[in-house]
Amino acid sequence: MPDAHVGPTFITLWRITVTFKDLRGETLSTVHANSARAYDQTLDLLNSYRADPVAVLTPALQQDPDFISGHLLMAGMMLATYDPQMNAPALASLEQAAASPLAPTAREQSLHAALRAWAAGDMNDGNRQLDRHLIEHPRDLLALQLAHTADLALGRTTMLRDRIARVLPAWSESDAGYGYVLGMQAFGLEECFAYEQAEEVGRRAVVMQPHDTWAIHAVAHVCEMQGRAADGIQWMNATRSAWEANNGLAVHNHWHLALMHLARGEHAAALALYDQAVTPSPTALALDLADASALLWRLAMRGVDVGPRWATLAQRWRTQGLFGAMGFFDVHAAISFAAAGDEEGMRQLERAAAAAEARPGAYAEWSAVTIPARNAMAAMVAGQHALCVDLLLPVLPVAQALGGSHAQRDLLTLTAQEAARRDGQHALAKALQAQRQVHQLPITPLQSTRPWSLSERRTTPA
Ligand SMILES: [Fe+2]
Repeated sequence: MPDAHVGPTFITLWRITVTFKDLRGETLSTVHANSARAYDQTLDLLNSYRADPVAVLTPALQQDPDFISGHLLMAGMMLATYDPQMNAPALASLEQAAASPLAPTAREQSLHAALRAWAAGDMNDGNRQLDRHLIEHPRDLLALQLAHTADLALGRTTMLRDRIARVLPAWSESDAGYGYVLGMQAFGLEECFAYEQAEEVGRRAVVMQPHDTWAIHAVAHVCEMQGRAADGIQWMNATRSAWEANNGLAVHNHWHLALMHLARGEHAAALALYDQAVTPSPTALALDLADASALLWRLAMRGVDVGPRWATLAQRWRTQGLFGAMGFFDVHAAISFAAAGDEEGMRQLERAAAAAEARPGAYAEWSAVTIPARNAMAAMVAGQHALCVDLLLPVLPVAQALGGSHAQRDLLTLTAQEAARRDGQHALAKALQAQRQVHQLPITPLQSTRPWSLSERRTTPA
């Protein structure tokens, strides 16, 4: 492993060039060793979603405003929230990085360009640039996590697995942060249905770093997809001290735990988790509001009276006013507005979404899912179950484009199934139930009676 925080190594009279390194040996342009240490501490917190990494990095940047990688890390943290209100502060951080008198490294330059595209509202382009950046800099753990985050939001499911596979040859088990790479690999494998491998890798990551809540979350996903609610509850309780509080995944992991209780028919336990930990706090971000919407919707579809919670949640969406930035969020906001009967909130959302759909970029791609999905949810609330089914059925095969995980997008299939049942379309409801359970079937590797060669394949008639 390279020595950390080595430098300065080179100084010219006309332009200072200093090389401190992060824990993986990536060069950081700064003249202060303390800045490099703050970078490592902050990135470790970001990797594990622990505590408040912004609070660690902020004083370091105040003392060292020329710290290029520090500003890039700050921008990355803003963008990783997916919350559009963070784009402006991310751009401000990137401006500060650009204003530094220090000479940026090649890594810093290409990372800066990628984050600028993302912060300007084009996550697609940002992700494309991160893609190339990571080929040249596979040990850039900040860039890797950001690309993984964007892959999830953009519905690039196979890249959740394959991007990690690309960089792993550049890593060894003794590298600082290797466990976080395994945590990302575990989630990617899970999203690509390699459940046994995902669980093995995820549990290994947690053994290496018990505070890695992304790896904990990956194993929770395996349990969710395999219908192993009891195992999932046991896992979440066993790891609870890592994710329960003071953690960026606290709300989302409570959401997962609530889903496990729902799977066991324990509605009261799920509702209690909503009230304790999923209901939006004053500092809730868009992802938290989406989890809250999804959980209330699942409860409501099971006939649970959630009382005034819809109105409170709809008001939070309106206050946040984040519409037209991410299709995934807009569908969840629409759920809340429809369920709360908040027509003005829905109108605000639709206006913002229409403007976003007219612009090039990721939102235009999402609209093929978001428009019918929003309308379907409103139809469900209005009791127009046949219409809800008709709107959702064409969406289900392309829902991956919406981003998020299989577990999150299951909301659409679940809604179509329930609408079909309420409309008396029992064969369809049964078929959709079977579709949702396909992931719970044991995966049997294909068995070949004899190996075939490439030449055999070529001669096989089409
Ligand atoms: Fe999740």
